[in-house]
Amino acid sequence: MKKILSAILAGTMMCSMAIGFAGCGGSGEASKTETTAPAETKAVSTADSATKDSANKGENGELHMATNAFFEPYEYYENDKIVGIDAEIAEAICDKLGYTLVIDDMDFDSIITAVQSGKADFGMAGMTVTEERKQAIDFTDTYTNAVQVIIVKEGSDKVKTKDDLKTAVIGVQMGTTGDIYVSDYEADGATIERFNKGADAVLALAQGKVDAVVIDNEPAKAFVAQNEGLVILDEPFENEEYAICVAKGSELTEKINGALAALKEEGKVDEIINKYIKA
Ligand code: ARG
Repeated sequence: MKKILSAILAGTMMCSMAIGFAGCGGSGEASKTETTAPAETKAVSTADSATKDSANKGENGELHMATNAFFEPYEYYENDKIVGIDAEIAEAICDKLGYTLVIDDMDFDSIITAVQSGKADFGMAGMTVTEERKQAIDFTDTYTNAVQVIIVKEGSDKVKTKDDLKTAVIGVQMGTTGDIYVSDYEADGATIERFNKGADAVLALAQGKVDAVVIDNEPAKAFVAQNEGLVILDEPFENEEYAICVAKGSELTEKINGALAALKEEGKVDEIINKYIKA
């Protein structure tokens, strides 16, 4: 097992050293990227990007970003264009590195696989840095902080504190840290309902099908603003940090970190965040 692992590792390293952005594993096998969005709305940034559906490590000067674009204000659709904090920071990073950004929208729990397999060059999706994920992919430096919060129906008797979750029906977006954290409560008697989109979990809450939703603070604010009768509990659930994920050993980590550091220095990262999150 160890031998196989190190062989794979060595292969990956050799590959990235030898051909860099030309990439390993070929783009042939990566010809289909799962997406939850209709094909014509799946990609933004270049006119012909909708027809390109596999990542190519900078071939044609493009970098493919895997995301799940139902996560306002980080990534969401404005008409058929994906906008948001992540989309704009990614665009600024690609500008600095001299690449055209192509955004591939997919289920959140497909992003890491897409990056691992080379279908996408990087993943950016309000993605929290966790030790478990670090086993599968590398993270760049972090670009912002976040908090997992609890959304309930206004005046909820069932869930008033974090502790009450232990006996509640909890809605989460599948594969997110919210999902991972509350899964610990299953042993206490909680029931977890996992949805493809955060919005679907929130809809289930509005319809009384779940007692609470655990999700990132900023999307939570957007959901509460869009759905009457929902509130965010004051007690935070968990603090986190977001970063961009790349394939293990990829030289893209260093490049992105360089661009990100410059953008932080120039105040561009704050500017983008403040554009979408009003103090
Ligand atoms: N921060 C959470 C996580 O990393 C949720 C991210 C969900 N992002 C999205 N674009 N749907 O698991």
